[in-house]
Amino acid sequence: MKRMLSGIKPTGRLTLGNYIGAIRQFLEYQNDYELFIFIANMHAITVPIDPKELKQNTKDLIALYMACGLDSEKTTLFLQSDLPQHTELGWILTCHSYMGELQRMTQYKDKCAKQESGITAGLFTYPALMAADILMYDADYVPVGVDQKQHVELARNLAERFNHRYGDSFVVPEPIVPKVGAKIMSLQNPTKKMSKSEENPKGTIDLLDEPSVARKKIMSAVTDSLGIIQYDPENQPGLANLLTILSSLSNEPIDSIVNRFQGKGYGDLKKEVAEAVYNFLSELQAKYREIIASGKIDEIIQAGNEKAGKIAYKKVAKIKRKLGLSIQKR
Ligand code: TYM
Repeated sequence: MKRMLSGIKPTGRLTLGNYIGAIRQFLEYQNDYELFIFIANMHAITVPIDPKELKQNTKDLIALYMACGLDSEKTTLFLQSDLPQHTELGWILTCHSYMGELQRMTQYKDKCAKQESGITAGLFTYPALMAADILMYDADYVPVGVDQKQHVELARNLAERFNHRYGDSFVVPEPIVPKVGAKIMSLQNPTKKMSKSEENPKGTIDLLDEPSVARKKIMSAVTDSLGIIQYDPENQPGLANLLTILSSLSNEPIDSIVNRFQGKGYGDLKKEVAEAVYNFLSELQAKYREIIASGKIDEIIQAGNEKAGKIAYKKVAKIKRKLGLSIQKR
């Protein structure tokens, strides 16, 4: 069985973008692949955090993974910070990454272009930690939204570089990006990605938003003045985003939705998207509350940590031997 791995960082509350771009793919694959899904909380501290919030977001993320349908019997769910091998391998890979290749990472470049103050060294080197997350488990595939593809490509380069220098060490992973929904846009500024850190809350749908609030956000989403329902992300990004959201939640192809709405107005489409989002969130949140009430989260993470930890321990021991960092005979 091929192995697949992915993670989400608990920086803020999970968005509909995270669900459509990432989690939905995990669900699709969990029966056919050996799936490892984790909480990338060591990545969350690359920006300033409030410890209480981080803890809460981490618990929410685990519960939401499960509420979305990840089944801990099939999928190994684990917490990155519980496995010190991630930062260990992260450091090793940092020492094999070039400044130039890290400087080319779009997320880092974007932050620099905005001249945000207080950019940490961790934010600069975090793609090397992400490579460690992936290469640790010899993942064949990494399902991500389009914004993370470049980081998976760096992981590929690092795996190839490492294998070339020290002999066979890592499986070279491949990113998998969904055909529909790889980049859900902000509802208020549809040329920008919907993001956990967006300042305008009206642009983002949190998976834990009150469903009626989410419905309002869809109804007030920015569209255009053309008045024609068609899928044209370049000229009608807001409309294309709404069509993508509806298609992703209902599994109806975009073409078919466009056909159904011929001769109708944006208001009609928005109503249907708003209902789909409302129903999706209501169901999801009912499951989320059940999971929180069951008190099973700790147990599930512990079991996942144990399984992932065994692999991580072996992998780092092997890499240290290869690098001459261990002096003991096996
Ligand atoms: P993060 O937490 O920013 O995002 C988690 C996943 O959600 C996807 N995503 C989106 N997809 C579609 N539309 C959007 N608006 C949208 N916003 C986010 C992301 O592409 C991603 O798949 N560095 C990673 C976490 C990470 C990781 C890893 C992922 C750490 N180690 C190893 C995969 C493998 C991150 O910050 O994702």
